[in-house]
Amino acid sequence: MEIKQAKYLGSWQRNDQMPHTELPEFAFIGRSNVGKSSLINMLTNHKGLAKTSSTPGKTQSLNLFLLEQSFQFCDLPGYGYAKVGKATRQAFSKMIEFYLKDRPNLYCLFILVDLRISPQAIDIEFINKCGEWGIPLNIVGTKADKLKAGAVADAVEKYKTALSEHWYTLPPFIVSSSEDKIGKNEIWQTITKAMLNNPGGDIAGEF
Ligand code: GTP
Ligand code: MG
Repeated sequence: MEIKQAKYLGSWQRNDQMPHTELPEFAFIGRSNVGKSSLINMLTNHKGLAKTSSTPGKTQSLNLFLLEQSFQFCDLPGYGYAKVGKATRQAFSKMIEFYLKDRPNLYCLFILVDLRISPQAIDIEFINKCGEWGIPLNIVGTKADKLKAGAVADAVEKYKTALSEHWYTLPPFIVSSSEDKIGKNEIWQTITKAMLNNPGGDIAGEF
């Protein structure tokens, strides 16, 4: 999909303060610095739409974007970022949990993992928790441009092995690079397919 209209709607600290809408919403989550905001910019073809930074901890609130006046993206803060301190980390965790559990128009969550880093407990636990909550999700492996093709395949296999302990059917895994625009079509296909279903009506993977 080629996005013509993309608009930043605002930032919120709490999901219950966000504008209520029935427009389909797609959210992006993952550890700090994994490339959530960059992925949003790559998908929408709007470079500065979501603020990115080489310093982890850039996105600190729930950020909404309206696309083609018909659906929304939500850029979430990273989870588990050590440097912000325990209290802030817990506040981010709660912000994310409340949003995920109480956002009726959330059609699909994209959980991003850095393909260069072997599966970390924090990511596997977060993916499993979302499975328990019944959130339709896809996993996106980021920064594929930094790895050779064989190493990408190995990294994907490692994630699948780590998740297969808990999932009957694994959630889809999409390889991406915001730098090289890898994975763009696949993610848009997932989004357009999800929009044909009701939120939660087509849970990707079976926990
Ligand atoms: P927080 O908002 O801090 O949680 O981070 P984020 O997950 O939104 O990451 P962001 O998009 O700000 O990117 C973090 C850093 O990774 C930036 O320096 C980006 O340029 C870089 N980056 C993101 N995606 C890619 C990618 O696909 N390939 C490469 N090589 N670098 C990337
Ligand atoms: Mg960000």
